Amino acid sequence: MKKIVVLSGAGISAESGIKTFRDDDGLWQNHRFEDLATPAAWERNPQLVLDFYNQRRKQLYEVEPNDGHRALAQLEPYFEVQIITQNVDDLHERAGSTQVLHLHGELKKVRSSINPDLITPLEGWELKIGDTAADGTQLRPHIVWFGENVPNIEQAAIIVSKADVFIVVGTSLQVYPAAGLLDWVPSTAAIYLVDPTANPSNRYKNLSFMREKAAKGLPLLVNQLIQSHLNTI
Ligand code: APR
Repeated sequence: MKKIVVLSGAGISAESGIKTFRDDDGLWQNHRFEDLATPAAWERNPQLVLDFYNQRRKQLYEVEPNDGHRALAQLEPYFEVQIITQNVDDLHERAGSTQVLHLHGELKKVRSSINPDLITPLEGWELKIGDTAADGTQLRPHIVWFGENVPNIEQAAIIVSKADVFIVVGTSLQVYPAAGLLDWVPSTAAIYLVDPTANPSNRYKNLSFMREKAAKGLPLLVNQLIQSHLNTI
């Protein structure tokens, strides 16, 4: 089976109603990420950090996957599909994708303040001061903050290095090491970029660019990929 690898960012969830980070009305327009998404912010004002992630987690219970997420799930009967996402929402999983690797953590999980491997699902949307992990420390969001390691990046690079088709959707490619995954795409792979505003970089010779939002562009691309697959059997 051909391997399709997807790198997704906040843009794929925009049409589900979840704000992106760097668009005009993005999350970082209203907050300085160093005040919210860094270990120093957690040390300085844990309540503010908990409130920020509680609000985003609460919204997650009010939104649904969109046609972009669902289109990617429809690839699975025909291809070996691996989603690598920078998103911390669970919309890929709720849309039916079964192989989802989160690079920047997951909103619906929390973890020990001192042991990053002591991770547990959070019941409900609210994490409070005084909620403790099994090791007795304050539970913190299971999110990779700026300045922290991205533990899944090596696994992600290996997955990307085996792609026959690489789809990039809804990411400004401004944050490393996630953006660096593009350097691991085999020269033989077909690359598709789905984004309403990005400018196609001539850095990749076999790049096809779809200046579309995810909920429209991904169904079109997925139908094209499935049709080309069916034509070969
Ligand atoms: N469909 C597809 N793409 C969209 C849509 C849409 N409906 N709306 C916006 N976009 C595109 C924007 O053009 C932009 O290229 O999505 C991208 C969003 O970029 P960012 O807001 O920078 O989000 P992302 O790339 O996921 O950020 C990466 O930065 O703050 C950190 O950890 C955070 O994971 C995040 C990382």
